[in-house]
Amino acid sequence: MQLVTEDNITALAQQRWATAKDPRTAELMTALVRHLHDFAREVRLTEAEWTAAIGWLTATGQISDAKREEFILASDVLGLSMLVVQLNHRFSPGATPATVLGPFHVDGSPELGFGGDMSDGVAGTPLYLTGTVRSLDGTPVAGAVLDVWQADADGAYEAQLDVDEARLRAKYRAREDGAYCVRTIAPKGYSIPMDGPVGSLVGQTGISHFRPAHVHFLLTADGFEPLITHLFQEGAEYLDSDVVFGTKQELVVAFTPREPGPTPDGGTCAVPWTEARYDFVLQPCAPR
Ligand code: BEZ
Ligand code: FE
Repeated sequence: MQLVTEDNITALAQQRWATAKDPRTAELMTALVRHLHDFAREVRLTEAEWTAAIGWLTATGQISDAKREEFILASDVLGLSMLVVQLNHRFSPGATPATVLGPFHVDGSPELGFGGDMSDGVAGTPLYLTGTVRSLDGTPVAGAVLDVWQADADGAYEAQLDVDEARLRAKYRAREDGAYCVRTIAPKGYSIPMDGPVGSLVGQTGISHFRPAHVHFLLTADGFEPLITHLFQEGAEYLDSDVVFGTKQELVVAFTPREPGPTPDGGTCAVPWTEARYDFVLQPCAPR
């Protein structure tokens, strides 16, 4: 019989998990055991702290459902989501960088034409987001799909509300010359949900629980790596303290105020509006 001691428990647990049939599972689980045990040793974890941590994990699971992803939020505020993004999307210099998906993307958004209005009656300052989608060599990526979503002026996403129709989300397609045009409303900074276990933990720290004003994009095109990213408003509050570590300098764009008049889609706007220009650069798929 193998006697368990404080000194040999880590090696014993690693040996057991190394028997996983899939080699990658064995690698992941033995490393997890090693780091967890090192953590407990380093902080001399007490039983009360272990119980509190289990309670927190339980509550995180219990508050989660199809519309609320509290574990993703936990990963986001710990910086883990953004680290995983960076490890897995090492694009060439010049390609638009990726950032976190966040918990509020909804599949199956309706497709709108060039300059189509995805805000459709939601209050806010009209915003036209325009530019091109190109490859690293500057070639337009005709037909690239831009799946766009954002929060309303109160910081609420459709996924957090009880609504039946698509709200502040739509898909657009780049034209032959790579040009796209999104009509929406200017986003505002907002707080992550603070009424759950993640908020309760963040609230015990000096961490700002806000995200800077942004619009989300998921770009897809044949032959290119999918790109999950955001555009952030230049000068917005919280750019340097984004609670989910999602900001990147390359994704910060000027939101320029415009007088009533002609708009980039060839129409006109009767009230003051805002224009933001950004050229997306997609990373070609790695040869397989
Ligand atoms: C978001 O931008 O939608 C988001 C990302 C991470 C956590 C919460 C919200
Ligand atoms: Fe967001």
